[in-house]
Amino acid sequence: MNRIHQELDTLARFSSSEFPSVTRVLYTQEDLNARDYFIGLCEEIGLKVRVDAIGNTYARWEGTAPELAAVGTGSHIDAIPLSGQYDGTVGVFGGLEAIRYLKSLDFKPKRSIELVLFTAEEPTRFAIGCLGSRMMSGQLTPEQALKLKDKEGGFFNDIREAAGFKGDLNDVKLSENYYHAFVELHIEQGPRLEKENLDIGIVDKIAAPSTLIVKLIGEGGHAGAVLMPIRKDAGVAGAEIMMAVERIAKDSESEDTVATTGIFDILPRAVNSIPKEAYLEIDLRDTNIETRDKALADLKQEIAEICEKRHIKYSIELLNCDPPATCDENLVHTAEKAAKGLGYSTKVMTSHAYHDSLFMAQLFPTTMIFIPSKDGVSHRPDEYSSPEEIDKGVQTLALTLKDVAS
Ligand code: GLV
Ligand code: MN
Ligand code: MN
Repeated sequence: MNRIHQELDTLARFSSSEFPSVTRVLYTQEDLNARDYFIGLCEEIGLKVRVDAIGNTYARWEGTAPELAAVGTGSHIDAIPLSGQYDGTVGVFGGLEAIRYLKSLDFKPKRSIELVLFTAEEPTRFAIGCLGSRMMSGQLTPEQALKLKDKEGGFFNDIREAAGFKGDLNDVKLSENYYHAFVELHIEQGPRLEKENLDIGIVDKIAAPSTLIVKLIGEGGHAGAVLMPIRKDAGVAGAEIMMAVERIAKDSESEDTVATTGIFDILPRAVNSIPKEAYLEIDLRDTNIETRDKALADLKQEIAEICEKRHIKYSIELLNCDPPATCDENLVHTAEKAAKGLGYSTKVMTSHAYHDSLFMAQLFPTTMIFIPSKDGVSHRPDEYSSPEEIDKGVQTLALTLKDVAS
């Protein structure tokens, strides 16, 4: 299976940052080049490729009973700024490798097997995660999508059309019987498998994410001339909110509550000018929806208090607030059986990261296959899973697909 490792290495060069870091943002030239590379490889082995109106890409291996609902697998190839080369990509190119492997066995699937490259699992460009799978599941409507803007103020629709993706946004949504089952291969992005010296994780639950955009407007002014008692510094209000984000997650009753202010910008960004505006993007998640929602409510309350105290105008936009996903018990069992049959050690586990499977699970029986991440590191250039670990994941995926598609 040397091939997949070479392919992942080639893919990592479709990046706007220098190798080994990877930056591949939705609808940029790097993203488009990477998609072309993927489609070429799919066509080489005879898969029928279809691209929807927003770039979700389906590569189908027709089964002997094509009238039956297909079995889906896949993941994403977009990469957040300065990240690594395995997040998402292992599920896309691993899915391709699994199909090649099954073809090499002369296996003929009864149900079609469809490999999906989801458009933008990462929230980099439009702030919302799982854009492609969210629309596929109907959780983001065409009307909502049309309102999305990127940081430069460009509208989603203009940007997708400029990237060459045309067609009716209403056609992106999948019907509820489109897939018989969906299985996503992914790196764990955490330390549990490595710590316990296990080969394969089978996911039974995916944590519930939410994203807040907070905009603050205070009063700018001269850093020397405006004395402290009369300031309305949006930057300091933002800093206080950032501290509250951390505290609220730490104080939560659930140890799985995590909250991150991943973006914090101030304007006008001049050393001798009081910040007039601040912009924060906050990611808040939990495996437990009650404690996640409590943390969200606490945070909104604190933002209101901080802004009132500092005489700052503010707006809070709750961009997404998703429920956790429960995976399908039978499918979890099937994937576990596949891994065990190959002699691999396994663990059924929760995913703290979100994935396109969060949305596939809303429509179809779904699970995920995890492989270890070195030192539990992800979203960093030193993210690493070894060729052997990837191969084990591919084998497990292949046999799971074989079982479910037979
Ligand atoms: C996905 O990349 C996530 O942030 O969980
Ligand atoms: Mn990611
Ligand atoms: Mn991912």
